[in-house]
Amino acid sequence: AQTVGRGEDGVVTVGGIDVKRIAEEFGTPAYVLDETDFRARARAWRTAFGQDADVFYAGKAFLSRAVVRWLHEEGLNLDVCSGGELATALSAGMPADRIAFHGNNKSAEEIRRAVTAGVGRIVLDSFQEIVRVAHIAQELGKRQRVQIRITVGVEAHTHEFIATAHEDQKFGIPLAGGQAAEAVRRALQLDGLELIGIHSHIGSQIFDMSGFEVAAHRVVGLLKDIRDEHGIELPEIDLGGGLGIAYTSDDDPREPHEIAKALTEIVTRECEGARLRTPRISVEPGRAIVGPTAFTLYEVGTIKPLDGLRTYVSVDGGMSDNIRTALYDAEYSVSLVSRTSDAAPMLARVVGKHCESGDIVVKDAFLPGDLAPGDLIAVPATGAYCRSMASNYNHVLRPPVVAVSEGEARVIVRRETEEDLLRLDVG
Ligand code: LLP
Repeated sequence: AQTVGRGEDGVVTVGGIDVKRIAEEFGTPAYVLDETDFRARARAWRTAFGQDADVFYAGKAFLSRAVVRWLHEEGLNLDVCSGGELATALSAGMPADRIAFHGNNKSAEEIRRAVTAGVGRIVLDSFQEIVRVAHIAQELGKRQRVQIRITVGVEAHTHEFIATAHEDQKFGIPLAGGQAAEAVRRALQLDGLELIGIHSHIGSQIFDMSGFEVAAHRVVGLLKDIRDEHGIELPEIDLGGGLGIAYTSDDDPREPHEIAKALTEIVTRECEGARLRTPRISVEPGRAIVGPTAFTLYEVGTIKPLDGLRTYVSVDGGMSDNIRTALYDAEYSVSLVSRTSDAAPMLARVVGKHCESGDIVVKDAFLPGDLAPGDLIAVPATGAYCRSMASNYNHVLRPPVVAVSEGEARVIVRRETEEDLLRLDVG
């Protein structure tokens, strides 16, 4: 759990440091990431899955060199989905054979770098890519370990933009119509490829395990067909990421050991039914590891009560540091953290400083009625897909990530500067 508390003066502390000190030293807005919590969650996943399975942290949720080192130390592997993520992983010393490379349109250059570095697996996402990776591997005199990503036709109950296994979307090769079986046929014929398994990722922010159950059933069905047709049993399956976290108190996420137990039981049962050896399972949680470990610290700038409606509380960041509310209608909570207050609560909407009205961080929340400019407020559960999806909209500078642990705070991703912005502008 996060090491968050409140000191005697009413100021919230994290990792033993009070947020006022963090704001003074590093400025606001800032993502404040609890390293102790991150490591504990990573370790919990690792331990839950044990030695017979692999946990690949999904770097897209949030990646930095410090994070790569923590993952390495805690025994996790890493899923990357671009040349940039691959470069970050390698530069922080993640062994290449513990990296999986994803993406529905990897460039030839990215594939070449991944194969040259010796990544543990490339997850193939299309018929073209099967051939592309095979050719590049052959050119480089290598045999690349690969999985094929299939879409199993599951409707994951989550936002449309982050559901990925129903039929009408861009990822993977459909199981339907024999396409996945055909992809396997082709991959098995190519010398540059060593097909080690099948991959399925059904979506993100999922609470209901039944989607995984259907996915596992269908993936194992394919493994059985492969055995019957080719006489081989593929040694691995990957069930992707997607486990939900609590953004508000309505969400009730499962613990890693429950998830591990459920997934292992499903796969084992399905394999027994199909008379297959149980393959090595891997998973790719991103949000579930990093999401709860950070909050965004903002300073309140202006307060605008609109009679009969709500009070608009403007902070010094906004949709450039958290696009999720605008993009997915995501829900967040918010708290006053620089002091306590006994004032009656007011219905507030926390908005940013950007030039559009959709610039909302927290749609509906209660904050103390005596909230004032200069107060610090925190939005929890912003560790995943906030810094990693941050933008420079309105030439706003992206906030730093400050890691706290055992009474110490240090910057792991520094705040962007105007020089950073202007450096790219060479016109
Ligand atoms: N594996 C694959 C192949 C993925 O595509 C993803 C997420 C993951 C693993 C990790 O999923 P997680 O455990 O973090 O849910 N930007 C969206 C989420 C997009 C997820 C994309 N793929 C959001 O802010 O909710």
